[in-house]
Amino acid sequence: MGGNLYQRIQKECEIHISMTLSSLVGQSPDLVVFLSLVEKCWQDFCDQMLTIRGIALVLDRTYVKQTPNVRSLWEMGLQLFRKHLALSREVEHKVLTGLLRLIEKERQGEAADRTVLSHLLKMFTALGIYTESFEKPFLEYTSEFYAAEGVKYMQQSDIPDYLKHVESRLHEEHERCLLYLDASTRKPLVAAAERQLLGHHTSAILDKGFQLLMEANRVNDLQRLYSLFQRVNALELIRQALSSYIQGTGQAIIMDEEKDKDLVSFLLDFKSSLDKIWEESFFKNESFSNTIKDSFEHLINLRQNRSAELIAKFVDEKLRAGNKGISEEELEIILDKVLVLFRFTQGKDVFEAFYKKDLAKRLLLGKSASTDAEKSMISKLKTECGSQFTNKLEGMFKDIELSREINDSFKQSSQTRTKLPSGIEMSVHVLTTGYWPTYPPMDVRLPHELNVYQVIFKEFYLSKYHGRRLLWQNSLGHCVLKADFPKGKKELAVSLFQTIVLLLFNNSQKLSFQDIKDSASIDDKELRRTLQSLACGKVRVLHKIPKGRDIEDEDSFVFNEEFSALYRIKVNAIQMKETVEENTSTTERVFQDRQYQVDAAIVRIMKTRKVLSHTLLITELFKQLKFPIKPADLKKRIESLIDREYLERDKNNPQIYNYLA
Ligand SMILES: *[C@@H]1O[C@H](CO)[C@@H](O)[C@H](O)[C@H]1NC(C)=O
Ligand SMILES: *[C@@H]1O[C@H](CO)[C@@H](O)[C@H](O)[C@H]1NC(C)=O
Ligand SMILES: *[C@@H]1O[C@H](CO)[C@@H](O)[C@H](O)[C@H]1NC(C)=O
Ligand SMILES: *[C@@H]1O[C@H](CO)[C@@H](O)[C@H](O)[C@H]1NC(C)=O
Repeated sequence: MGGNLYQRIQKECEIHISMTLSSLVGQSPDLVVFLSLVEKCWQDFCDQMLTIRGIALVLDRTYVKQTPNVRSLWEMGLQLFRKHLALSREVEHKVLTGLLRLIEKERQGEAADRTVLSHLLKMFTALGIYTESFEKPFLEYTSEFYAAEGVKYMQQSDIPDYLKHVESRLHEEHERCLLYLDASTRKPLVAAAERQLLGHHTSAILDKGFQLLMEANRVNDLQRLYSLFQRVNALELIRQALSSYIQGTGQAIIMDEEKDKDLVSFLLDFKSSLDKIWEESFFKNESFSNTIKDSFEHLINLRQNRSAELIAKFVDEKLRAGNKGISEEELEIILDKVLVLFRFTQGKDVFEAFYKKDLAKRLLLGKSASTDAEKSMISKLKTECGSQFTNKLEGMFKDIELSREINDSFKQSSQTRTKLPSGIEMSVHVLTTGYWPTYPPMDVRLPHELNVYQVIFKEFYLSKYHGRRLLWQNSLGHCVLKADFPKGKKELAVSLFQTIVLLLFNNSQKLSFQDIKDSASIDDKELRRTLQSLACGKVRVLHKIPKGRDIEDEDSFVFNEEFSALYRIKVNAIQMKETVEENTSTTERVFQDRQYQVDAAIVRIMKTRKVLSHTLLITELFKQLKFPIKPADLKKRIESLIDREYLERDKNNPQIYNYLA
């Protein structure tokens, strides 16, 4: 009698379910109350169906099992419930509206009955209508909700707050799925919120907030920005914003010549703050790191000559004696950082020229802070650019060491000791031409005692090293003079030129500019600089008559009777200072040298290839030359080599060059 019994149970169930559901029609206008009525109805239904199933267990196990296309009692009940819920549209609609309203309330920060939510959503799932009847309208509604919220909040709040808000919204939606929504809703739900709150506002967020966040070093906010943008595949936009930010900020400083003095410090600080943000906010994303590198390279080479020069000067400043408060370790760190900037510069030869010029001064004037630091810098440069780059710099150190030995053996040599004037000590650095910067020779008339010394040293040196040529670089000489002032004995550290001028005052109280010029025979410009340093600087060993900053032909000078200072006093700071001429000649020499290198490269290439088109030759040159150069400049060098008959233009095709052996 299974079939009969099954049908009668089904019929009774249908009548009951239909009645219970219709009794809900028109019930409480209060959605919360209504939802709990439905919840109660569903709970009762479940309990009742379980009871019936328990009683008619045999039916499920025999009749249902043996007959095709017959549902189990539980399934049959669900199907009936589903059918009658669909028939009473008002109830279904009201349940959906009620659920959405509850969730909205929760989103607005009010408490909602999560048990009701959870039970009713389980009902949707059990009935198999969750996706169609709940999830779809819920996701649409969510999109609208966050679309409106996104627009409103973007207007109302600043970017850091907006990002925090978005972050907590996404977190809430995630939680919602753990608490009462079906797990399958999580992905589309979070995606809808992301799209509305972030995806639609990425450009606006960056425009409104990126620069501010970067400038204020807001590491945490930037990290939040990165993580959020990563969710909507918008990292590339941040990368672009980063690039424009670096270019914009850097360019303003780099192009401002008044800020040259602090340019390198600025670049170093800027770079380390970017690196920090990259590490802590951008999760060390490699393509961001490349952007930082590229932007820096671009920035630094905006003023190619100048940046390389300024970097060299910055290093000089750090390696010079008198940097109090910097430990060896700190110095190492600074040098490493500077090296990163150096890596970006295309004008490495400009750097080398200035570095060498400053290194020479540090070594020769004894102004180097630490030999270890010097050597460490050289080895860094060697690792960076190869030994060819540092050969000459290392040669300079060798000269210094060798000079120490020569100096000692000169002092000990008996043949010289007897001839030396007493009361004077002299030490000599012997520099190998080629290792050192070239200095314009400056002839002067040395006082007799010094002259004697030079002659004796020269004899000594040439007897040891036959066939060499010694030239005195007077501009690099420096002395310690002992002087008797009315107010006491002093020791003056002065340049050789200052020495020559001061010694003239051993026998005279007052000398005119012309007198000094005649006796000392120092180059006019150099003499004016020297007198200025003695009579117009901070420490005034001489007085100028009349007073004034510039040295005129009519000026006279008197010995400063009032001179009082520490016992040992330095007056030769001018030797460390770079003159305009020195600066120009250093740069010019670099460019001269580049021309030689271009010429040599052209000849080398043409010698192997014999015949080559203009385009191929230029391409090959760009490959071989290690400094920036314009095609127009290469063309000029090619013309010059044609004039000098190293090459000729092909008679049939002027775009082709032939090598002339
Ligand atoms: C790094 O950023 C780029 C966008 O510039 C993005 O395409 C890439 O997926 C990011 N890499 C990682 C590891 O997240
Ligand atoms: C670099 O310096 C040289 C000579 O001093 C000059 O001709 C050249 O235009 C400079 N280049 C740049 C990019 O400043
Ligand atoms: C030469 O020796 C003297 C001491 O005798 C020393 O003061 C001076 O620094 C030395 N010069 C060089 C170039 O080593
Ligand atoms: C300076 O003059 C005094 C005598 O007035 C003389 O003893 C001394 O040797 C002179 N010094 C020099 C360096 O010429």
